[in-house]
Amino acid sequence: MKALILSGGKGTRLRPLTYTGAKQLVPVANKPILWYGIEEMANAGITDIGIIISPETGAEVQNKTGNGEKFGVNITYILQDQPAGLAHAVKVARDFLKDSPFVMYLGDNLIQQGDLSSFLDKFIQQQPDTLILLREVNNPSAFGVAKIDEHGRVLQLIEKPKIPPSNLALVGVYFFSDIIHYAIDNIQPSPRGELEITDAIQYLIDQEKQVSACNLAGWWLDTGKKDDLLEANRLILDTYLKTSIAIDSQIDPQTKISGRVQIGHGSIINNCTIRGPVVIGDNCHLENCFIGPYTSIGDHSTLIESDLEHSVILDSARIEKINQRIIDSLIGQRTRLTVAPHHPKALRLLIGDDSQIELTAI
Ligand code: DAU
Repeated sequence: MKALILSGGKGTRLRPLTYTGAKQLVPVANKPILWYGIEEMANAGITDIGIIISPETGAEVQNKTGNGEKFGVNITYILQDQPAGLAHAVKVARDFLKDSPFVMYLGDNLIQQGDLSSFLDKFIQQQPDTLILLREVNNPSAFGVAKIDEHGRVLQLIEKPKIPPSNLALVGVYFFSDIIHYAIDNIQPSPRGELEITDAIQYLIDQEKQVSACNLAGWWLDTGKKDDLLEANRLILDTYLKTSIAIDSQIDPQTKISGRVQIGHGSIINNCTIRGPVVIGDNCHLENCFIGPYTSIGDHSTLIESDLEHSVILDSARIEKINQRIIDSLIGQRTRLTVAPHHPKALRLLIGDDSQIELTAI
């Protein structure tokens, strides 16, 4: 059994962060989203993993993730020269996959830990041609959608339908036998110009091959957008965070910490109130701050006289003397957020393309 994790694509919905980096490397609880998928594979005993990368962000994914040693797996990187679709990515990976059955995992999806193993067991025992996972959602038009009959048999799959036939979305985790390659060879690009894996599975259904579906009971998040990412961060912190304070961090006696809080190496915290679950990376400096629940702060960040909660701050950000609480925010690497000197009531901004800023009138 092999795994193919898709970490190419454009990441348009997470701009501007994805102008400078891969969306699969955006951290959730200070760990790249992609790594959760790799860990799921390792937990399920799959050690031969191919990762699809793009020319734009491939090197970054590769440098950060390495050859798989730290996860106990072997990683082969496979370059997809353009984001021509999920089925195209499988095509590009053909030499790696050979005729092996495989799990395909979308690198921006997160599923509850441990769920993959149980579906893998089912796939191995029942040996269908394809096993897909379905989950009820409120906005099916944003996903591949399944129409099933009263016995749970899959009748039809449609990619992002305007009028969805059900609210059952295709989760970004698929189990395939080698027959999927034959299906991919027989489909055409969709109206949006991509070779869709949804169409390849539909082809198998049309050929009366065995396409099984399971309902995913645990949580699932497609982290493609800001609010999904914040929700993923909340869920991971809520479910898995354990208190751990690095021995070489410095926390002064005025600082009050409650709940589950993780503080990384070399971080200095003075006169702050921190209410977990909160994760603070390595070499951060926090002074006179309130850090509320469901916040992740990346390495080398500086926060002075600021309050924040339910937010994700990426590495090396600097936030200083902001006199309103920052909530529900996703702040990119090396961002500087301070009060304009000599103009405390003015705003002085240098904002990247596609940024979103909501100011409250005072
Ligand atoms: O998240 C589940 C949904 O994922 C399914 O319900 C849909 O049926 C499926 O098509 C897919 O839809 P998305 O629009 O969310 O796919 P996205 O373009 O975001 O790509 C998913 C991942 O695959 C992402 O990590 C980028 C990567 N990718 C994407 C394309 C198009 C590649 O590596 N290569 C590609 O060519």
